[in-house]
Parts: sequence; C-alpha cells; structure tokens
Amino acid sequence: MLKKIKGRAPEQRPEQLNLGRMQETIFSARRPSPGSPEGCREDDSKMRRTSLLLNRFATKLFGFRLENHSMAQLLATSLLLLVVVVGSLFVLSWRRREVCVASYDSLTRTSFFSSGVYGLASDFGSLGVPWCRSKQGKTVEWTTKDLLKGLEEFVPIYETRPIKNNIYGMGFDHSFGLWFMARWLKPDLMIESGAFKGHSTWVLRQAMPDKPIISLSPRHPEKYLKKGPAYVDGNCTYFAGKNFVDFGSVEWETVLQKHGISDISRVLVFFDDHQNELKRLKQALKAGFHHLIFEDNYDTGTGDHYSLRQICDQPYIRGGGHSCFRDSDEARLRMKRKMFWAQAVDIGELCGEGEAWWGVRGVMRDDFNHSNKPITYEEHFQNSRYVESVLDLYWELPPVAGPSLTHQTRYDPARAADPVIEDGRFGLFRRLGLSKLDASVFNGYTQMVYAKISASGS
Ligand SMILES: C[S@@+](CC[C@H](N)C(=O)[O-])C[C@H]1O[C@@H](n2cnc3c(N)ncnc32)[C@H](O)[C@@H]1O
Repeated sequence: MLKKIKGRAPEQRPEQLNLGRMQETIFSARRPSPGSPEGCREDDSKMRRTSLLLNRFATKLFGFRLENHSMAQLLATSLLLLVVVVGSLFVLSWRRREVCVASYDSLTRTSFFSSGVYGLASDFGSLGVPWCRSKQGKTVEWTTKDLLKGLEEFVPIYETRPIKNNIYGMGFDHSFGLWFMARWLKPDLMIESGAFKGHSTWVLRQAMPDKPIISLSPRHPEKYLKKGPAYVDGNCTYFAGKNFVDFGSVEWETVLQKHGISDISRVLVFFDDHQNELKRLKQALKAGFHHLIFEDNYDTGTGDHYSLRQICDQPYIRGGGHSCFRDSDEARLRMKRKMFWAQAVDIGELCGEGEAWWGVRGVMRDDFNHSNKPITYEEHFQNSRYVESVLDLYWELPPVAGPSLTHQTRYDPARAADPVIEDGRFGLFRRLGLSKLDASVFNGYTQMVYAKISASGS
C-alpha cells in the first residue's frame, strides 16, 4: 500500500476561505477607520447617550433619580463595564465553539452535506459500491458484531505496534482487517507479498502467534532497522533481498512441502505488493491457493494497479459502470465530492480518451504503475466474467468508523460500505479506545478485500 495523503489543508478549504472573507468583510464594515475624527466624535456622543440611558435605567431600577451628575456617571460607567465584561465572556465562549467547529473538518463537511441531499449518514455508498459477484452468491460467516468484538481486542494490540509511523504502509483499518481475518481463518501458514518495514508481518504474527510466515519482498525489512523501527519475525522465511523471488515464480509445491503443509486450503495469502490483482489471482489459482487478501483494492480511476474492485465495476452491478457525460447527475455529484475527499475523482479524471472509464482511464495498471496497458471495454468485461467464475466469496472490509469520528479525509464514503461504527456513535468509538489514536492512522483505507477462490466449475 503506497499512501500519499494529498488532501487540501483544512484551512484552505474553499468554503472556509469564503467564510473567512465574509467575516473579514462584516468586521471591517463595522470598524471606524483608524484616527478618523468622525469616529472619535461618534464615540463621544455614543458615550453620552449611553450615560443618559443608563441613568434612566438606574432611576427605574433603584427607584430614585441620580441628581449628582458625577455619581450618575460613576454608576453609568460601572454598569457599562459590567455589560462589556459579560458581553466579552459571551462572545469569547461563542468564538471558542466556532473555532472548534471550524477545525473539525468532518463537521464542516457534515454541515455542507446535510444542507442538501448529501446527508452524511446516507453518504456511505451513495455513488455505489461495486462488489464482485461470487459463484454461488455466498457471503462471509462473520458479522458486524464479530467485527466490534474484534475491535475491542485489537485496539490495545495495535497500540503496542513497533512501527508507530507506518507511512507508505498499512494504517489502522487494514491492520485490523488483516488481523481479524487471519484470526478468523486460522491458517497453518501465512504468506505475504510486499513487506516494506514489516508492519504487516507483525500484524499477522499478532493474529497467529505460533504459525509460520513466508514473506516476499525485494528489500529485506531488516535493512530498515538501521534507520529506525522495523519488524523482523523469528518464525518467518524471507524471500527478500538477494533471495527475493516474485510470488508468480515461486515453486510453491516444494516450498509448501518444506513447511509441512499438506492442505493448501489452510494457507492464507496476503498481497500488498501493488501488482495487477488479475495477474496475482491467476498465479494464486494456478498454485492452488484459496484464501487471498488484497490490501489495496483501489476504486475505479484511482491507484497504481488493476484491482478486483476495478475489475468488477461493471454496468450490471449497482454503482458500477459509468457514463462520461459531463452534464449527468453522477458528474455533478462527483464534482462536489472531490472538494472534500482526497481520493474522490470527478468525471474529467475518471474518463480517458474515447470515454474510457474502466481501470484508470481505460488503462490496466501494474507494478506500482510502472507498467500500464490500455485495454478495451470488451477485455475489461471479460476480466470481470473470469473473476466471477473463480470467486467463492468476495468481502470488502468496511471502514472501522465514520469520518466524523476518525476525521479521515482520504477515501470518499460515497464509494465505501457502511462503517463498522457509524457516524454519531462517539461513545462507542471512545469506549473502544479509538479516540486515543492519531487521526492519521485512519487515512489509509482502500477497500481491503478478502477473496476466496477455486477453479471455475468447481
Ligand atoms: C506498500 S509496501 C508494503 C507495506 C507493508 N505491507 C506494511 O503494511 O507496512 C509495498 C511493498 O511491496 C514491495 N514490492 C515491490 N514489488 C514487489 C513484488 N514483485 N513482490 C513483492 N513485493 C514487492 C515493495 O518493495 C514494498 O516493500
């Protein structure tokens, strides 16, 4: 997973700039120009008028008239001071509330969306969440309740992670997803392709403390130890550094035998290597693997490799297939969403030459986008038919919590499943210990997916 956080700085959001300008205009309209004689005269007469008014007020309040002018002025000044102090306190507390709201990105978004048809509660999936159809339409065994229970257990584990700042690696959502699924599936062997500094190896280890791991990565995680935190596992076979072999070139039969694996359905393969997922799916199927997790399941128009999510984005799927017509509802909605979510794409970005919207503007990306091959819509359609023919299960990990809780600004909820903890459930979010985590750990969600596969026809 290669994370680049390129959201606009909150203070630069257009609606906030406008608000700032608006406030500036209001305030400057009220201010007299400095040193202006009119301003001084106006202040003088205002003072006198206030003094008279207060005198009248005091007469009413205390039941007698203040004949002594200096007494009256003293009382008037004191009352005026009192009014000023109370007024300032009120304005200060109001400003503080205003500042909180302004710095609270997601609330700004909430107010924007709730002012129209874009209410945050219905944001999730409002542009569609194209799922891959499986052979028999089966779904996973675990439920939201299981995920919540898992979160309760995982948060304290996550807090002990050795690599605290895993920029360019997995954040909280996917770390949880990988841990949860590995624990649920209880594999005898875990294989990972793409280790970086070893954070995902550590996550797999937390899920299954006694099971062996095989890790494939061009650079050995130990190399990172020289510069800072990294994780090297004691029960892991590394195909890394000078021993690196690409997943597609490993003699899996021999390697599995060496690890004492006789039942390949007891192996979990985790890909975070930014390779074309169609290529990886075919290689995994050829080797006989069944349980796959893809970390970066990029949405159409985004990412550096062709993903299952992209492949299954087809017109016959809800939220799938797109029109490049610039005056459509989808185009308008996408344009608005792009203002708030770093990964949202508008129609201009979604569509390439010849109105090609599939993959990334009609291109099948591979290997961190070092390779990019244009494909026709027919090829894209055939790819989805192939994927559907080998899928037993397809399950996208939902985001752990809504953006008003996590303050994430990257993925667009309109293209994501409902979160495990919905917006508004701050009590639960806090109770699970999630409010203690830095907001940046929630910025890496890219629809991690679990795919159970078997040869077509089986
Ligand atoms: C995004 S990082 C992995 C992050 C890691 N899983 C984590 O959670 O911290 C991608 C990794 O894939 C590695 N990589 C590049 N090409 C690869 C290949 N063909 N096979 C396996 N890993 C590859 C990169 O060197 C990099 O370490």
